[in-house]
Amino acid sequence: MLALSLLFPMDPQGWLLTGILTFFLGCGGLPGCKSGRIIGGREVKPHSRPYMASVRFMGHHHCGGVLFMAQWVMTAAHCFFNKNSSLSLIVLGAHSTNNPEPTQQTFTIQQSILHPGYDPQTHQNDLCLLKLDHKATLSSSVGLVKLPRAGVDPKHGTRCLVSGWGSLSDFGHPSPGLMEADVSVLDRRTCNSSWKGQVSSKMLCAISGKWKRVGFCTADSGGPLICGTQALGIVSFSGTWCGDPKTPDVYTLISAFITWIRSVTQKSTLTPFPS
Ligand SMILES: *[C@@H]1O[C@H](CO)[C@@H](O)[C@H](O)[C@H]1NC(C)=O
Ligand SMILES: *[C@@H]1O[C@H](CO)[C@@H](O)[C@H](O)[C@H]1NC(C)=O
Repeated sequence: MLALSLLFPMDPQGWLLTGILTFFLGCGGLPGCKSGRIIGGREVKPHSRPYMASVRFMGHHHCGGVLFMAQWVMTAAHCFFNKNSSLSLIVLGAHSTNNPEPTQQTFTIQQSILHPGYDPQTHQNDLCLLKLDHKATLSSSVGLVKLPRAGVDPKHGTRCLVSGWGSLSDFGHPSPGLMEADVSVLDRRTCNSSWKGQVSSKMLCAISGKWKRVGFCTADSGGPLICGTQALGIVSFSGTWCGDPKTPDVYTLISAFITWIRSVTQKSTLTPFPS
C-alpha cells in the first residue's frame, strides 16, 4: 500500500487509491497489509487519548504512534522502512487529522531508529523510535503513555482497546476523528497456527470475539493496543480483510523491547547529536 501510494501522487489523501485497493484487494492482498484502519469501532471523546501521535508524510496521515517520553514517540518500523524521516511531521494533541486544532503540537524528527532486527518479510521486531526535534509541552491534550515492565505478557481474553485514524471500513471512508475499538487478547498458539507459524514470542495477537469484523486492518499501523493503563502492543500486521477473525490482528509486544527502548533513549541523551 505504501509503495503503491508513491505511484499515485495525484491522490494526496489516498482515499481514491485506498478505496480502489481495498475494494479489490482488501488490505492490499498480502498477509500483513501495511495500511490499516479501525473498523467496527467508535469515535473517542476528543483528546481523551493524549498520548496518540499522528505520523504524517507529504501533509497527510500515514501511521499512528504513541508519545512515551516528552521527546520520544514509538511507532511501527514498517511505517519508516525505506522512508526519509526528514520528510515526516509528528502531530500531537490532535482529534481530527484533517483540520488544524489549537491543541495540536507539530514536530520534525531529529532521529528515527528502526529496530536493528526489523525484518519486513517476517514482521519481526516491527518497532521504531522517533526522537522529536524538541520536547512536547505536556497538557490535557498531550501526555505520555505508560509502558509495561519487561516481560509482561497479557493472558488470553484480556480486554484491550486499539485506536487510530484510519478509515471506518474496508472501503476507505475517512474517519471524523480518532477512533477506537474493543478487542481481546488471543492466545499465541492459536494465533500462530492461524498465521501458519509467523507469530513469534515478541508479538501479541488480538481479536474482537464478536461476529462483526472489528479491529484494525493495519493504516492504524504504529498505533497502540492499550490494556488497562498500559500500552502493551504496537499495531503491526493483519489479514487481507480488515478485522477478519481467521487472521487475527498482530501487534509488536512492547514488553519484549523495554531493554532496547531504554538503551536507545539513554544513549541518545548522552550523545545529543548522533548521525
Ligand atoms: C531526505 O530529505 C531531505 C530533505 O528533502 C534531503 O535533504 C535528504 O537528502 C534526503 N535524504 C535521503 C537519504 O534521501
Ligand atoms: C509459531 O510456529 C512456528 C512453526 O510451527 C514455530 O517455529 C514458532 O516457534 C511458533 N511461535 C511461537 C511463539 O510459539
